[in-house]
Amino acid sequence: MTRIIGICGSLRAASLNRALLRACAGLLPAGATLEVVEIGDLPLMNEDLEKPAWPEAVQRLRRAVWPAEALLIACPEYNAGIPAPLKNAIDWLSRAEGIGGVTAPPGETRRTPLAGLPTAIIGASPGMLGTARAQQHLRMSLQSTGTPVMPGPEAFVSAAPKKFEGGELIDEPSRAAVTKVLAGLVGWAARLKD
Ligand SMILES: Cc1cc2nc3c(=O)[nH]c(=O)nc-3n(C[C@H](O)[C@H](O)[C@H](O)COP(=O)(O)O)c2cc1C
Repeated sequence: MTRIIGICGSLRAASLNRALLRACAGLLPAGATLEVVEIGDLPLMNEDLEKPAWPEAVQRLRRAVWPAEALLIACPEYNAGIPAPLKNAIDWLSRAEGIGGVTAPPGETRRTPLAGLPTAIIGASPGMLGTARAQQHLRMSLQSTGTPVMPGPEAFVSAAPKKFEGGELIDEPSRAAVTKVLAGLVGWAARLKD
């Protein structure tokens, strides 16, 4: 059993990346589960908000990510990089235990919810590069948080509006690419556990 937590970097209701995450739920390998956590209620990162304790929305996000065995990020591309809401969530998740007056769950030895958490990135955009630049940008940030991002396989859903119908991912090559990422992530998590 591999418990995967999913984060969608877009806040909009009709998000292609949210639809991509929904598709992932139906393409998981046997034994894996996917739960999506919301990031839209997080305040903008401000160290003044960390005392005496992290805001409730931050604590909720951290509590959701701690027990996960793997992380799947659906990353939109804004101006060739990471969308601000996603970067904001990463910044809150990158903070070490104790800073916000809250301690890690019992038995948790990782320094932060993101440190050491096996992660895969996928993304969808209307453009021809399918979020390739944003995914690269995200990899750079996640290096700084000590998050082991799976080197490959990768999934870039380009020209994405044509590949969804009624919110469903109908494009077979995209479904195959995402299926490979999900299987890879489960294997990546197992390898890093050993
Ligand atoms: C501020 C902004 C900047 C954008 N920049 C890019 C970009 O650099 N590359 C790209 O492929 N799409 C870009 N887009 C288009 C998004 O990829 C598109 O809106 C996409 O549907 C967003 O993801 P979502 O559907 O999950 O909300 C941009 C959109 C916004 C709002």
